[in-house]
Amino acid sequence: MTNFDEIIERRNTDSLKYDFAARRGLPEDVLPLWVADMDFRTPPCVIEALVEKSRHGIFGYSESREDYFAVLKSWFSRRFGWKVQPEWLIKTPGVVYAICMAIRALTSEGDAVLIQQPVYYPFESSVINNDRELVVNELAYENGRYHIDFEDFERKITQHRVKMFILCSPHNPVGRVWTKEELTRMGDICVKHGVIVVADEIHADFVYPGYSHTVFANIKPEFADITVTCTAPTKTFNLAGLQISNIFVSNQRMRKRIKQEISRTGYSQLNVMGMVACKAAYAQGEEWLEELKAYLQGNLDFVRSFVSERMPEIRLVEPEGTYLIWLDCRALGLNDKALDDLVIQRAKLWLDGGHMFGQGGSGFQRLNIACPRSLLEQAMERLAAAVANR
Ligand SMILES: Cc1ncc(COP(=O)(O)O)c(C=O)c1O
Repeated sequence: MTNFDEIIERRNTDSLKYDFAARRGLPEDVLPLWVADMDFRTPPCVIEALVEKSRHGIFGYSESREDYFAVLKSWFSRRFGWKVQPEWLIKTPGVVYAICMAIRALTSEGDAVLIQQPVYYPFESSVINNDRELVVNELAYENGRYHIDFEDFERKITQHRVKMFILCSPHNPVGRVWTKEELTRMGDICVKHGVIVVADEIHADFVYPGYSHTVFANIKPEFADITVTCTAPTKTFNLAGLQISNIFVSNQRMRKRIKQEISRTGYSQLNVMGMVACKAAYAQGEEWLEELKAYLQGNLDFVRSFVSERMPEIRLVEPEGTYLIWLDCRALGLNDKALDDLVIQRAKLWLDGGHMFGQGGSGFQRLNIACPRSLLEQAMERLAAAVANR
């Protein structure tokens, strides 16, 4: 059994989460629960594989072989019932990179790209930085739950002649695990209007009991034909710094264009350590993942009861998936700057302010619960004190 309660020192390890507060204008002593990586060690099987590779000591150009693909294929088949083919695979050093490549390869400057805010903020910047038109289908929030405004979704697509839709499934930060019905309805609209779908499914492995992740491209062949599916072992096994993601595109024409675009950037072989880690994680890390998910469930239960007992002004939006918790702080009656101030300066916490996630994000904060419970307890006490003394 893994001891997820263990506190592992991350300061002075070049950690983006821990070592850059002051440089980013925050107090040095903030407790960081922002960026989506975990304060847990990756599973022993991954560490051992990386150590073995290190001991070999040769880090020349490397490429994946059949055994790498076999491990991916087995993972997606047994966990999601999705049968991937070797020729569909494009390996990239990250999902955001893949999204940018898909935007550049499959749309032209000025084309409209649709996203569903509030959403992971690099979606917006990837569209804007590539000189495409950003179109937003804002998620509807009613009675503590998010859903899709399908009429607005289709209207935005037709009005702006949308070329591409970037789907976040499961959704960061609102925590929805979209149902097969919801995905089908969106997919049918995209097929009808010739919209390409980039399905970012990086959080697919984190789904709470009672919910299940549906691979968008696996719903119908017509969906597979318009979809770029982005997957990665990096959230699941805490490997973000190793930069490895597996992108599946069954449509040959789309795949060729994405590969060409990647090649234009001068990128070819992946970092070998990312491949080693990915293979070990998917081949042998499943038991660890199930233990982790049980621990995260405990963290979620703790935060839910703490918030309802000690900070009833704040509402926890019940997540169906992901280890990112979306806190509705609007009843505090603070504007975004004042809310950020309360969190950062008074509570001494580093969270992600909801406004960063675009439309519909104002008045919310995103909390990363993938850390030892004692740390989370400390963070919640700090937040409760700041809220009480505001
Ligand atoms: C929805 C989503 N996509 C992509 C990423 C990052 O992926 P990568 O590090 O592979 O670019 C994250 C990280 O938080 C995420 O939440």
